[in-house]
Order: sequence, then C-alpha cells, then structure tokens
Amino acid sequence: VRNGLEFAVADLELAGFGRNEIRLAEHEMPGLMALREEYSEVFPLRGARITGSLHMTVQTAVLIETLVALGAEVRWASCNIFSTQDHAAAAVVVGPHGTAEAPRGVPVFAWKGESLEEYWWCTERALTWDDGETHGPNMILDDGGDATMLVHRGTSYEQAGVVPQPEDNDPDEWKVFLGLLRESLAADAGKWTRIGEGIRGVTEETTTGVLRLYQLAAAGELLFPAINVNDSVTKSKFDNRYGIRHSLIDGINRGTDVLIGGKVAVVCGYGDVGKGAAESLVGQGARVIVTEIDPICALQATMDGYQVKTLESALPEADIVITTTGNKDVVMAEHMARMKHQTIVGNIGHFDNEIDIAGLTRYPGIRRTTIKPQVDEWVFPDGHSIIVLSEGRLLNLGNATGHPSFVMSNSFSNQVIAQIELFTKPDEYDREVYRLPKKLDEKVARIHLQALGGELTKLTKEQAEYIDVDPEGPFKSDHYRY
Ligand code: NAI
Repeated sequence: VRNGLEFAVADLELAGFGRNEIRLAEHEMPGLMALREEYSEVFPLRGARITGSLHMTVQTAVLIETLVALGAEVRWASCNIFSTQDHAAAAVVVGPHGTAEAPRGVPVFAWKGESLEEYWWCTERALTWDDGETHGPNMILDDGGDATMLVHRGTSYEQAGVVPQPEDNDPDEWKVFLGLLRESLAADAGKWTRIGEGIRGVTEETTTGVLRLYQLAAAGELLFPAINVNDSVTKSKFDNRYGIRHSLIDGINRGTDVLIGGKVAVVCGYGDVGKGAAESLVGQGARVIVTEIDPICALQATMDGYQVKTLESALPEADIVITTTGNKDVVMAEHMARMKHQTIVGNIGHFDNEIDIAGLTRYPGIRRTTIKPQVDEWVFPDGHSIIVLSEGRLLNLGNATGHPSFVMSNSFSNQVIAQIELFTKPDEYDREVYRLPKKLDEKVARIHLQALGGELTKLTKEQAEYIDVDPEGPFKSDHYRY
C-alpha cells in the first residue's frame, strides 16, 4: 500500500516507460478512445466496481483507463503467470497523474513470472474490495474465466459446507487453486457467496472462458448474467485470427530467432486462432501442416492450401509444432519423444494443458536446460532435444507482448460496451450467456475502418429493400458466418 493504494507489481520505477507506450497505444486504439469521447459527460460506469482478470499488457492499460474514464473503479490481475508487461502494470498503478512515490492509479496485482500460488493470490486480491460492506466487485471482466471460476467454486463449496480437497492425481494447478480456496474459506466461510451475490455480470474475452460459461449456464449453475465478448465478430474474427497472425511469429522469433522460412510447421487446430497461426507461419515461408478433428475446419485448411494430417504422421517432418485447439492433451510426452532434434514446441491456446508438460517433466532420464526465461531445452535420453516456449503457456504473451494495439482495440471496445450493457441494465439479463447485438459489432468495425481510411459504400433505399436490410444496418442476419 502506498498513498492509500494497494498494489503488487514488479517495479513502480518502470511507470515512465509504461506511460510512454500507453500514450502511443492510445493512438492505435481508436475504438477505446471513441468510447471515452462518446461517454465523456455521461459516465455510464459510475458506481461500477470492476475486477479484471486479463493479461496486464500496454493494451490492457488503455482498456483499464477507459473503464476509469467512464466512471468505474477497477482492480486488476493478469490471467496468465507470464503475460504481464511490468512497465504497463507500473504505469497503471501510478496513473496518468501520479508518481512512483505517490501513485494515484488503479490497484494492479500482476508481474511477469508469477508462481501458481502468487497467481491465485493476485486473482483473489483483485476480487477483494475491502469497502466494508460487500467485499467484492459488482462486475467481472474475465479472460479465460479464472476470476469467475474462483467466485463460483468458492460459492459452491461454501453452500455445500465442504472443504475442498485435491485428489493425488490432480494437476498441480488444481492443487494450488484448491489450496487457496481452502485457506480463504477457513478465514471467511461466507466470502464467496457474498461476492457472488453482489455481481451484476461478467463479460468474457476468450473462447476457452466462454466454453466454461456455457457449461455453467447449461448446468443451471451460473450465478450472474454473462456476455460472450469472444463471439462478437469484431473480436474472434479479428483478434483470434489477425492478432495471432502478428503475435505468433513474434513469440517464436523472440524466443528462438530461428529462420521460419523453409521449415515444416504443424498447426494443431484450424479454428480462428489456427487460421491466423497458419497464415503467420506461411507468411514467413514455412510449409504448414494442419491437424484437426472437425472435417469442416480440416477441409477449409486443405482449401487454403495446407496439408491435413494427424500429429503422429506429421511428426517426422515437423520443425515447429504449435497448438491452437483450446483442448487438452494435444501434444503428449510420447509425441515430443519422437520429434526431430531441436523441434520448437509452443502453445497459443488459452491453457497450458494442450501440451503435456507434466508428462515431459516425468519422462525417464529427461534433462531440462533453461536457455533464457520462457525458453527451455528438454534433452531426451537418446540425445535429441526439443525447445519448449513459455512452459507450454500461451507463447505470444509469454515470449512476446501479445496482440498489437489496433486489433485489441476491436476486442476491448466490445468489452467496454458489454460492461456498460450489463452494469446499466441488470434487469434485462438473466443468468444466461448473451452476445452483443450485431449493430454494436458493426459500430466497432465502423470506427476501426474509418481509422484505417476505409470508404464504406452506402446502400440505396432500393438496394436495401431488395436484400431486406435496414440501410443503417444490421447488414447481416444472426446466422451469417463471415
Ligand atoms: P476454435 O474453437 O475456433 O478453434 C479450435 C479448433 O481446434 C477447432 O476447429 C477444433 O475442431 C480444433 N480441435 C479441437 N481439439 C483438437 C485436437 N485434439 N486436435 C486438433 N484440432 C482440435 O477456437 P479459437 O477461437 O481458435 O481459440 C483457440 C484457443 O486459443 C482457445 O483456448 C482460446 O481461448 C485461445 N485464444 C488465444 C489467444 C492468444 O492470444 N494466445 C487469442 C484468442 C484465443
């Protein structure tokens, strides 16, 4: 705590650097800046107490300061142990008008290279508002659903009166999570129920978090309404694809500096992220092989010129293997044992369980050499080695700085609009998962198109009637797939 502000970041002295990068990013984030302008006199988020759990980067700093500009109080943690940019975190704590000695910004609990224990501690701190009454936020802005999961799990253990106990064969992450929950329940056995009751809604950023929300809703266990931001077209068809197209090779380059041209790269999964990943690698001259479980996406990959194979049959050729599935157990230790010498292995999906790091760690006779932070060489007993990026966690944020500002401006504009929607209209939403109306999606696209100097053709009245749309939009039906 300094100047009455609670925080936990690496170094407040980095705030000047962070502020300069935030200033440059603001110019590249026209959607967020337009929302600040539009609501400059209305403050629609006044009274909102938003807990954010989302990669603490420069782009996220612009998001946080937009929420504050719209009237919200905010507390923040990162949603990944490696994704924080320490200078951005420092600048957000210090704020535009504070100093390192007297910070005046937002409580942030995030630094690059947290342990799992620290990660969950940070998430809990971001959710704990000691304002004497509710001890919680009234809104969550989530990426991957960890903050939402903490509130839901905590509530269900409290209501069942059960002390969470991990099983022996549970993954380490789960053991750490249940450990934190056990401690917090011992300290205050009604905390999570209270926090859950005070929350008006959550807006969720990514595919993996959205999946969790739909599962909760289907089981009738969702505690508050949710907006699926990921499936705004201006989010998943842009951030997941064009963002990855930029930041995948950025991560590989910063991690290894290996020439990608001429190499064989395997991309596991050909959804939005997989499409961006394949484009990213082929743009550098790699020969790309795709693995898929879904015949539609597999066929798309072949139409786009990629060979579709199973991982097993692609392995003998692969120089680079990237997972983008959002699924678990995609690249197993046995796969890695069969890879060529110095194959690069990385994951760009949300959680690290796509790559079997636990199995790799237990592999008989394996040796690990850390080349530099977030780059490990694993040497098998037969002498061949593989290079694993970011310990199997999303490499674009672990080895590089994530997606660039412009594409995140699209995603985060949807986030801000969704926060305003749930916060200002709590009576219009049930405990279900919603998407934003297409008109707002089109609004986000329009702002970014204008910023790039795009000229939009206007429908004539006759044309609009002929294709049966309003001349002002929305221009597509809800089932249109883009
Ligand atoms: P998606 O659902 O569009 O694509 C995933 C694809 O993987 C699907 O086509 C599915 O059929 C395929 N798949 C599933 N299991 C598979 C398996 N065992 N082998 C091969 N293919 C398999 O999802 P999207 O939007 O592409 O997201 C993927 C992951 O990336 C999610 O975890 C999401 O949260 C994350 N993400 C990460 C970002 C980053 O900056 N690193 C940005 C956006 C999303």
